[in-house]
Amino acid sequence: MIVRPAQSGDIAAIAAIYAHHVLRSTATFDVDPPDEAHWHERLALLTAKDWPFLVAERGAACVGYAYAAQFRDRPAYVYACENSIYVRPGEEGRGVGTQLLRALVTAAKAAGFRQMIAVIGGAEPASAALHAKLGFVEVGRIRHVGYKFGRLLDTLYMQRSLDQSSRS
Ligand SMILES: CC(C)(COP(=O)(O)OP(=O)(O)OC[C@H]1O[C@@H](n2cnc3c(N)ncnc32)[C@H](O)[C@@H]1OP(=O)(O)O)[C@@H](O)C(=O)NCCC(=O)NCCS
Repeated sequence: MIVRPAQSGDIAAIAAIYAHHVLRSTATFDVDPPDEAHWHERLALLTAKDWPFLVAERGAACVGYAYAAQFRDRPAYVYACENSIYVRPGEEGRGVGTQLLRALVTAAKAAGFRQMIAVIGGAEPASAALHAKLGFVEVGRIRHVGYKFGRLLDTLYMQRSLDQSSRS
């Protein structure tokens, strides 16, 4: 498996991966999958900003993606990014997320970010475990802030320093 920058040819696979998780999981609070145009715009925006958007590729198939963008739009958040990481259904638990997140941390450091924040919808155990493995620590939880599939959901915040001295 390789991890490389996303290209426009990956958009159909990225949209399909995200659509699966929108429709079947509480990891995202979206309820309607965005169309491919949304993903083309996102890729163009991140590319223009020099922010990382990576895909994991095995054979010719995209088995996951991850990107990092400024945590909030307001200018003083300039050194803080929020990550997003999704693995193709059927590929979870095989190390794809670990490789993607490790590469994303390195790329976000290179892009000049100094903190990375994971906003974990539904406090998903797999996502929390992945981030803990890569050195993120829990920094907050908003209880019952979401409602999806008939359930009230927490959002868990985890954070990792990207200072050059931090391990990756
Ligand atoms: C969360 C996600 C990205 C993890 O990717 P992955 O490829 O499955 O993760 P890995 O196989 O690299 O496993 C990383 C760690 O997570 C933990 N983990 C994986 N699946 C788990 C599960 N179902 N339950 C609990 N922990 C789990 C393991 O501890 C593993 O560490 P180990 O290698 O020491 O055993 C993936 O499961 C996914 O796409 N989930 C749905 C979307 C999502 O939650 N995205 C995150 C949004 S913030």
